[in-house]
Amino acid sequence: MFDVAKIKRDFPVLQQEINGKPVAYLDSAASSQLPRQVMEAMSRYYETSHANVHRGVHTLAERATSAYEEAREKTARFINAPLPQNIIFTRGTTEALNLVAYAYGLHKLQAGDGVIVTLLDHHSNLVPWQQIAKLRNANLYMVELTDEGLLNMDQFRSYLKQGNIKVVAVTHASNVMGTITPIKDIIRDAHQAGAVVVVDAAQSAPHMKIDVQELDADFLAVSGHKMLGPTGIGFLYGKGKLLDSMEPFQMGGSMIGLVNYFESNWAEVPARFEAGTPNIVGAVGLAAGIDYLTALGMEQVEQHERQLLAYAWDRLSQVEGIALYGPREPRTGLIAFNVDDTHPHDVSTVLDAEGVAVRAGHHCAQPLHKWLHTAATNRASFYIYNDQQDIDRLVSALQRVKEMFGYVAR
Ligand code: ALA
Repeated sequence: MFDVAKIKRDFPVLQQEINGKPVAYLDSAASSQLPRQVMEAMSRYYETSHANVHRGVHTLAERATSAYEEAREKTARFINAPLPQNIIFTRGTTEALNLVAYAYGLHKLQAGDGVIVTLLDHHSNLVPWQQIAKLRNANLYMVELTDEGLLNMDQFRSYLKQGNIKVVAVTHASNVMGTITPIKDIIRDAHQAGAVVVVDAAQSAPHMKIDVQELDADFLAVSGHKMLGPTGIGFLYGKGKLLDSMEPFQMGGSMIGLVNYFESNWAEVPARFEAGTPNIVGAVGLAAGIDYLTALGMEQVEQHERQLLAYAWDRLSQVEGIALYGPREPRTGLIAFNVDDTHPHDVSTVLDAEGVAVRAGHHCAQPLHKWLHTAATNRASFYIYNDQQDIDRLVSALQRVKEMFGYVAR
């Protein structure tokens, strides 16, 4: 049994009223909320174990180093990485993807090589590749969508056939359309063509079981703040062979082997990619979030969200004058929508007055919105602490939007 009422009690922020109404938090695709257990793990770390990591030999330094490295081990187990060294802690998905673009792409791509990106990708897995392609005179190919909002796999395969494709950068789950991409097929086909695959798993890892070895992913990026952790922590998974072959991304303390007057060499992976003092308490919080999700079971998390999604899709499709974006299947637990003739910011403001939190804007996916012929959308996204009542609240608040903006049926 997935006991949402019990789960909700673990989230202090959900125990309050917003604008005089109990909060219905439907914006977890932007940032999820933190359970008490994560906050307590972070406080406990500061109260008992804080010091810098990988530097001192005193007891607190050793405790901090153990806490940080245990977080790395837990993170590796969460996605079934072969070794903790496959995990590089970063500020989040964006930094993880920039790390791959600069430490792998900038050094390995040659003029005339190709990089494939997709229209489902968020700016953080698109813009870095635009920049690297420009700097290396490489060609960028954009995979577009079918009418239902799925990746156009024929187009993808035709780009692969052009030869010289060295990198495929693709999301596992779209943050706007909800589309879950056929990532295993993409990885298999890309490997056959000799390309490495960079997977943006920011919208999938919090919601379903990920096994990087089964996927055979080369790189995979995740944010902690979308999976019950704090902001400012995330990670990059990379295959050992690839990480070992890469130059550093940022230079400074901890990432060096030996520093001489005019040149230096680099530490082993993962230290090579973690210059400076890392976000130690962030890693502790991320690990506590992983513990919370693991105790629930990722299969159960996915199942719960699938049920909520089905309910929300059904209820929202019955509201006249509302357009829903993306395919019905395969999709993750979020729905982008527009209310006829009403700007998403107006919609979101009225929803907020009813205590319902959704995101409004282009969701860092401008090319996709261009393809959808709309500047912006609203987006409701679901997580472990949401229930059908939250969706009922959204639907009633949307009726209020229509009353306020004088929606007329056409
Ligand atoms: N990428 C995050 C979102 O989709 C911020 O909201």
